[in-house]
Amino acid sequence: MISDKLRKAREFEAHYGPFIPDDRRPAFHLTPTIGWMNDPNGFSLYKGEYHLFYQYHPYSTDWDSMHWGHVKTRDFLRWERLPAALAPDMEYDQNGCFSGGAAELPDGRQLLVYTGVRQIRQENGELHDCQTQCVAIGDGVDYEKWPANPVLTARDLPAGGSPEDFRDPKVWREPDGTYRLVVGNRIPDSSGTVLLYKSENGVDWSLVGPVDASHNQYGQMWECPDFFPLDGKQVLLVSPMEMSPIGLEFHAGHGNVCLIGSYDQERNRFERESVQAIDYGIDFYAPQTLEAADGRRIMIGWMQNWNTIGGKPRANRWFGQMSLPRELSIREGRLIQTPVRELEGYRRNKVAYQNVLVGAETTLHGIQGRMIDMIVTVRPASRDSYRSFRVNVAKDGEYVTTLRYKPDTSILKLDRTRSGSNADIVHTRSLLVRPRDGALKLRIVLDRFSVEVFVNDGEQVASATIFTRQEAAAISFDAVGSVLMDVEKYDIVMD
Ligand code: FRU
Repeated sequence: MISDKLRKAREFEAHYGPFIPDDRRPAFHLTPTIGWMNDPNGFSLYKGEYHLFYQYHPYSTDWDSMHWGHVKTRDFLRWERLPAALAPDMEYDQNGCFSGGAAELPDGRQLLVYTGVRQIRQENGELHDCQTQCVAIGDGVDYEKWPANPVLTARDLPAGGSPEDFRDPKVWREPDGTYRLVVGNRIPDSSGTVLLYKSENGVDWSLVGPVDASHNQYGQMWECPDFFPLDGKQVLLVSPMEMSPIGLEFHAGHGNVCLIGSYDQERNRFERESVQAIDYGIDFYAPQTLEAADGRRIMIGWMQNWNTIGGKPRANRWFGQMSLPRELSIREGRLIQTPVRELEGYRRNKVAYQNVLVGAETTLHGIQGRMIDMIVTVRPASRDSYRSFRVNVAKDGEYVTTLRYKPDTSILKLDRTRSGSNADIVHTRSLLVRPRDGALKLRIVLDRFSVEVFVNDGEQVASATIFTRQEAAAISFDAVGSVLMDVEKYDIVMD
């Protein structure tokens, strides 16, 4: 049975969504047809297709009363739209169906586990969230909320756990057919932890214990955890709120953190070995992963950040994009991310140059565009031959988005100050890249309203939204000193 609230959302998106022309949104990055989108939810394989849900408010481009939007894909780049999956239509989720996960049940149905939010007025008049974990089960389009919801409440928390900050369950099925979920929580030191629960059937859950905690080292509340094995290691992803900056690794505000370690499942003991940022750019938060049918671990994130939502272009009737889905691996103890290999299937019109000597501003015939996949490799033309090198994209006389690399400091700076935003938000980010004899390899993916930069074969990634007008499509290169550069550029065509 579909509630009135869900029916209303479905009618609204079906009616008004198609009014927004396709060329007013990215070509291969997901956005809602209309309204607001934040975190990816329920990113999982179901009946041979990859489903993705998302935090969704169809009625405006602001965060409000959270629904779950829904799409599916076979190749991570072409998204088939499905009607909204969940609306906040029960007492226990009346203030929002917050983030969560999905898994396939053995009987062929799809299990969704999400956070139900209900606000309760306290004696002092303040409204406080009561966050509980809830289940909905369906056929890949329509979902019934579980009659015994909520399935995890304050009673299921360890001593001192906050029932107000208890959210974002990520669920998966173990090889033995049982289920696990990790969920964010806040403990008395006021910072975040990740709790692990287990279940035989996906609806009756019991606490295993905490997996790790911030202890105020990596931010406050830990949102949207994910926890999975990768290349012989165990990875914990979290999105902390209110981080303090640490060098150029973590910036202030809402961050994204990857903890790599070993895991003893029997004793639920996760031993951290290294900690790094997931995305070093401006717009990235709340990523979620799935294990693809061929075994790849693929991650997608919200290509936005709570600290930059003020940069919303007024004319747009949608807000919020997903990042490119990225294949994950571990190399030399670091998280490596590369665009899903399916992107290569949409490459057209190859243009390539080798050993171009770049000093003064250089443009190259055929190197331009706003829906492109471009690989730029620079080397010093001779020993100590350059002080800085720049790639300028999404450029015309007025606009430009710049990547500048300085080999003496190994700092790469992403600058979207002149990329169509008139909001006074963060527009630059600097990251420390790993030097390789003054050489650098950048894979730059542009898709109308974003830039994603994969540094040195995915060792680091920096993502940012841009709202530059589409006519600004020139690309140029320049250096202080001189470099030798190779460029390989493809248009991405979603034919
Ligand atoms: C993270 C988050 C989650 C929450 C959701 C609400 O971006 O704050 O913790 O479930 O967004 O939309």
